[in-house]
Amino acid sequence: MTTTLISGGTVVGATGRGAADVLVDGERIVAVLEPGSELLGAELARSVDRVIDASGKYVIPGGIDAHTHMQLPFGGTEASDTFETGTRAAAHGGTTTIIDFAVQRYGERVEDGLAAWHEKAAGECAVDYGFHQIIGGVDEASLQAMRKLPDEGITSFKLFMAYPGVFYSDDAQVLRAMQVSRETGMLTMMHAENGPAIDVLAEQLVEQRKTDPYFHGIARAWEMEEEATHRAIMLAKLTGAPLYVVHVSAKQAVEQLAWARDHGQHVFGETCPQYLYLSLEEQLGASSEQWGAFEGAKWVCSTPLRSREERHQDAMWQALRTNDLQMVSTDHCPFCMKDQKELGLGDFRKIPNGIGSVEHRMDLMYQGVVTGELTLERWVELTSTTPARMFGLAGRKGAIQPGADADLVVYDPNGRTTIGMPVDAQGNPTGRTHHMNMDHSAWEGFEVDGHVDVVLSRGKVVVEGDEYLGRKGDGRYLKRGLSSYVS
Ligand code: URP
Ligand code: ZN
Ligand code: ZN
Ligand code: ZN
Repeated sequence: MTTTLISGGTVVGATGRGAADVLVDGERIVAVLEPGSELLGAELARSVDRVIDASGKYVIPGGIDAHTHMQLPFGGTEASDTFETGTRAAAHGGTTTIIDFAVQRYGERVEDGLAAWHEKAAGECAVDYGFHQIIGGVDEASLQAMRKLPDEGITSFKLFMAYPGVFYSDDAQVLRAMQVSRETGMLTMMHAENGPAIDVLAEQLVEQRKTDPYFHGIARAWEMEEEATHRAIMLAKLTGAPLYVVHVSAKQAVEQLAWARDHGQHVFGETCPQYLYLSLEEQLGASSEQWGAFEGAKWVCSTPLRSREERHQDAMWQALRTNDLQMVSTDHCPFCMKDQKELGLGDFRKIPNGIGSVEHRMDLMYQGVVTGELTLERWVELTSTTPARMFGLAGRKGAIQPGADADLVVYDPNGRTTIGMPVDAQGNPTGRTHHMNMDHSAWEGFEVDGHVDVVLSRGKVVVEGDEYLGRKGDGRYLKRGLSSYVS
């Protein structure tokens, strides 16, 4: 067993910050000590195998990204990060736990979908991982199978009010699944967009030859998100199910969530960095020498990027401050332009949906601290502590306390991080500053304050500087308990 002392840093948690040394024994944190504390004891201090100097830096609990899609089959292709490449990129960015979505598709058994996901991930991951279960076909068999998921450590499932013919559930199916949510205490996660109406609008746009990626954002209007969010809230109210709405991007959807919470419902919401920083006009509407107006395909995701003119981005920051939204996940679902996003040349409906950000979430959210939108404590709360509590990992993850897993990040507030993957005029990469398996970056040109210096995953240093020191298979499957937020 290796003992490590992280000394001289400012330890930051959701409830406060202070100068402290963190003592790690094997995989666990054993003590958080005042600097120079007698408690450390001369003998123990001598026997520490390794001291990491964190002077002038923050020591924070490793990030938890509760929304990723490694190797997700979508639109005739598959998300380009494997569990190996995606979790390694996560580690580089200071994220030491991911919760990915196992998939049951219509006509498949839930048990088979879950087994397939275990097979993809086992022995591949750089950091610890858990699963939510996507239920793409609610019927008697899947409802039965859902009741057994908590025994497998899966205490949340995702339904889709979007993507008819793929993952879509109608209201009757949503109602039935929510009844199981109420009965078992599992959290219902909802993709809240009115899919059938969106599909009509998208078809009409394509008929009018409005086929560029920009029109993906027009078809998926905010009204479609507000309406579905409201419907999900009402179905949750009726059934008593706890509800967690994923990838919230419209300010009107936040208003729905805030209203439901004010009226006493167990309703929660996450947003993602793309909805805080990027927009319909600047990104979905972008054009480049290489791709023309198809450049915007890099940012096709659902829910879509929203209008800057309508100030949805400001509303997301505000909601993070006021706790109308409780978490920031990435919805990491990367696709390359070549051969993948390209499938939608001439028809935006065929562009695989998703953006890759698992590596950048901690840095991007730290900018909220730099600009004064968030406190340091809120940064940690949104990216680590609340995800642990929301998804049944409290005590093990998300806080620097004795007994917790030693998932720790030494973060340098004076460092700088350059994000991107610049290309020449022919589209050939001229350098690479990310580790995700993508041929472009949705964050090209972002140069931000702060830098992930050292990352420990269960006591092992897996990243130091920009060097990866871990091995695939370091990450273990996490059996999760029920949410701390659901009574
Ligand atoms: O565009 C997205 N969000 N792709 C991943 C699938 C989903 O809906 O989360
Ligand atoms: Zn979704
Ligand atoms: Zn997703
Ligand atoms: Zn770096």
